[in-house]
Amino acid sequence: MSTVLKGGTVVTAGDTFAADVLIEGEQIVAVGRGLNGDDVVDATDAYVIPGGIDVHTHLDMPFGGTVSSDDFFTGHRAAAFGGTTMHIDFAIQPTGGTLRDALEIWQAKATGKAAIDYGFHIAITDLTDSVLAEMASCIEYGVTSIKLFMAYKGILQVDDATLFRAMQQAAKHGLLIMVHAENGDAIDVLVREAVAAGQTAPKFHALTRPPALEAEATNRAVRLAEVSGAPLYVVHLTNEGALEAVRAAHHRGSSHIFAETCTQYFFFTKDDLDREGFEGAKWVCSPPLRELHDQTALWQGVADGSLEVISTDHCSFWFEGGRDGRLAGKELGRASFVQIPNGCPGIEERLMVLYTHGVRTGKLSLNRWVELCCTNPAKLFGCYPQKGTVSPGSDADLVVWDPAMRRTLSAATLHQNTDYTLYEGWEVQGAPRTVLSRGRVVVDGERWTGEAGAGRFVHRRPFGLNGTLP
Ligand code: URP
Ligand code: ZN
Ligand code: ZN
Repeated sequence: MSTVLKGGTVVTAGDTFAADVLIEGEQIVAVGRGLNGDDVVDATDAYVIPGGIDVHTHLDMPFGGTVSSDDFFTGHRAAAFGGTTMHIDFAIQPTGGTLRDALEIWQAKATGKAAIDYGFHIAITDLTDSVLAEMASCIEYGVTSIKLFMAYKGILQVDDATLFRAMQQAAKHGLLIMVHAENGDAIDVLVREAVAAGQTAPKFHALTRPPALEAEATNRAVRLAEVSGAPLYVVHLTNEGALEAVRAAHHRGSSHIFAETCTQYFFFTKDDLDREGFEGAKWVCSPPLRELHDQTALWQGVADGSLEVISTDHCSFWFEGGRDGRLAGKELGRASFVQIPNGCPGIEERLMVLYTHGVRTGKLSLNRWVELCCTNPAKLFGCYPQKGTVSPGSDADLVVWDPAMRRTLSAATLHQNTDYTLYEGWEVQGAPRTVLSRGRVVVDGERWTGEAGAGRFVHRRPFGLNGTLP
């Protein structure tokens, strides 16, 4: 059984050319002119791009006194409607548990629900000697990236000794260390002071997590990675100072230091947390939204290669949760920002918003958009060229992207399991027409044709011990 995507323009990180794409079973078998197949997907007047890969998501995650509202089915369906066909989620080590435990808990969440392919990073919260020894076996599990939190004191935060020991072990085995880089100790002091002074509105979430505390932690993580030799990936980088720390590392020749930013940091500022009433809670995430000059710095960073990936940090919560069968959500923090669950939805909007405001405005080339959202994620996280490109032998995770399609983003029509979107009412131009996951059409216009349970776990490769990409 073969399928041909006919009459489109193939766009990869490196090329743009007119070609049909022939799929047999789950894989691409040919890219070229005049191809024919049993089934035909119309790609005329459209781009054919590799499916998006979102390497930073939190589905079904217990956090902030509740659980994130998208699970491995609703999150996957929403991702696919937005043109994303693979994501990597964070499996959090339970206190006192092993890394294997983390993986089993998160695999159970995905089993029977996954509708697109997925991988896991493991987040270490409790680095005992046996867990340190277990790190190498993550590679057998198909997990080659380990996350540590430098913030969320008393919950997920680890100290520098833990971070550094994990890096030393990672360097020995080619594991990629990921960090949430904010100085959690200093933030804890600022939060206590704010609460004592009665400063409890959502905006104080941003004011108690100043950019310098992210820049400091980013620099610290970078320097520790340089000393240990571990490959480092800084997640959700938000501001100019943190970007400078990454650039300085690159200027020193540290080619094993990588960083991502997330869609929302290009478009919103800390002023969004000060919207009327409690509305600002929708924008509460960590690190917080910053200033306009930081947005400019991030656009420069993705254009000049200082930032390698744009992900979402999709961690959706209900704005008005805790009723009508909904999990508790942002309303938990009405009395104080400290109790607002941190995180925002975004897995569905990423490609559309970045295409409209990045590609169409000339801030990103078409190829760079694909590179940042599809190809670099696969390369850095050890699954390229199985994923992340349009080439014979690659999985047929493909999007027929209609550059003329106009949509108005709204929580009422998006598919994320939450009652709001940061982009309510935004007009986008450029959206998926058809989405395929390993050769199966999962989104056909407005229609969902995917299937819970069809998504597969992707085994990923580690870095080479000489620092080469996986
Ligand atoms: O606010 C956020 N980002 N929530 C998810 C957890 C994390 O820090 O990535
Ligand atoms: Zn984080
Ligand atoms: Zn996150």
